[in-house]
Amino acid sequence: MEAVIQQYGEVPYDGFASFYNRNLGRFAERLLPVLDDLFLRHLPSGGRILDVCCGTGQLAFMLRKRGFAVVGVDESSEMLRLARCNAPDAEFIQAKASSFELAEAVDGVVSTFDSINHVLNIKELEEVFSCVHRHLKNDGYLVFDVNMEEGYLSRWDGHWQGRFEEGTYDIKAIYDKDARIGRNEIKVNKSDSEITCQWEICEHCYSEQEIRETLKNSGFAVRAMYDGHQDLGLFGEWGRSFFVCQKATARLSDTGVAREPPKEKVKYRSVRTCILDGVYPGNALRRELGEDSLRLNAISEVLCRFQPAHYDQLYTQAPRFSWFIPAVDVLGQVHPFPVCSQPSSSSTEWSPHSRVVYLSPLLEQHKWPIVVIAVAHELVHVILNHELVDLDGDTYRRQEREVSQKLVDWGFQDELTAAVPSDSIT
Ligand SMILES: C[S@@+](CC[C@H](N)C(=O)[O-])C[C@H]1O[C@@H](n2cnc3c(N)ncnc32)[C@H](O)[C@@H]1O
Repeated sequence: MEAVIQQYGEVPYDGFASFYNRNLGRFAERLLPVLDDLFLRHLPSGGRILDVCCGTGQLAFMLRKRGFAVVGVDESSEMLRLARCNAPDAEFIQAKASSFELAEAVDGVVSTFDSINHVLNIKELEEVFSCVHRHLKNDGYLVFDVNMEEGYLSRWDGHWQGRFEEGTYDIKAIYDKDARIGRNEIKVNKSDSEITCQWEICEHCYSEQEIRETLKNSGFAVRAMYDGHQDLGLFGEWGRSFFVCQKATARLSDTGVAREPPKEKVKYRSVRTCILDGVYPGNALRRELGEDSLRLNAISEVLCRFQPAHYDQLYTQAPRFSWFIPAVDVLGQVHPFPVCSQPSSSSTEWSPHSRVVYLSPLLEQHKWPIVVIAVAHELVHVILNHELVDLDGDTYRRQEREVSQKLVDWGFQDELTAAVPSDSIT
């Protein structure tokens, strides 16, 4: 006998909660390193975090372990019952994400595992972002992930069946491109019961423009957007976009015109990681230059800001490039040039051309954005594996154009603008 005990129309996660808790709640563990980079480093230690659509509280538990105070909001009483077991030190409120009340403002807001797609229309989405905005402190960060069309097309087409501790499951994921609705049809059959429980969970696919506009209307500035698979190393998570947003407090500039707060640049890794990866100047050089060196600080800035995919390319080039950053005041141009390295003691063969990235001491007298651009420019050449000797004019110009474009695409537009004031362009 098969009986449908719950269907789409009620709070779907109520009946699905124990399955979710055992089998899906772990996604938070995969996300934590990403959240460290995109979100947690912006928060004061011990700060207060709101987890919107917190589900069964696995993320809340990990955030509490990091010393943050956590309040979770979710509409499902069953998900929250389990959340309270998983994260007893966190606070949980049963409410719609579009209309909750908090007693105290929060330092940051997070919403994970495409919870935002569960909000099925744009009007309600704006209510969600507005409600979040109202409870977030000025300049606070909101970070969430959403499934974009690419994600639904590549990942929401399948049928999975299997066993779990309590019985069997059967999940069908279907994406209706015209309606822009993703459906998960879930059946769970517990071993100790004749009854099959069935739910349908729907998600709405928003375009990037819709999300950006809705955020803007609700008072958020988008600081960065990343693809889970391509940019953040979440294997297989194509089309899962992470939005990093900041509460845009309108401030008055000297001219009396409202402007956005200055953009803080996203850093993907620490200097320590760059040292361990062998892409950072070595110990001796660091001691020689000293920690006030603009060139050294600009190297830190650029290496930590390269997006993961570009950094990985640089990392693979690490054995083939080295820094030449003379501390003494010698004249020179800033350009990388290839040299033949000496044969190593273990081999009689000459190693292939290696690349030296030369940063002139004159850079120490320049402004910060110029030094950042100089470093980024040289490293982009390395990442793109550009030819640097015996170039004809066309190749040289093409490569330079390519580097300039990458600097814009890879997040160095602000420094470019500051380094090359528009009134100097004729
Ligand atoms: C895919 S789960 C994600 C749970 C959790 N964020 C995680 O990463 O495991 C989606 C959650 O959003 C909740 N939810 C969906 N629509 C909601 C709404 N309009 N208001 C509040 N919660 C909602 C569901 O109850 C469910 O717990």
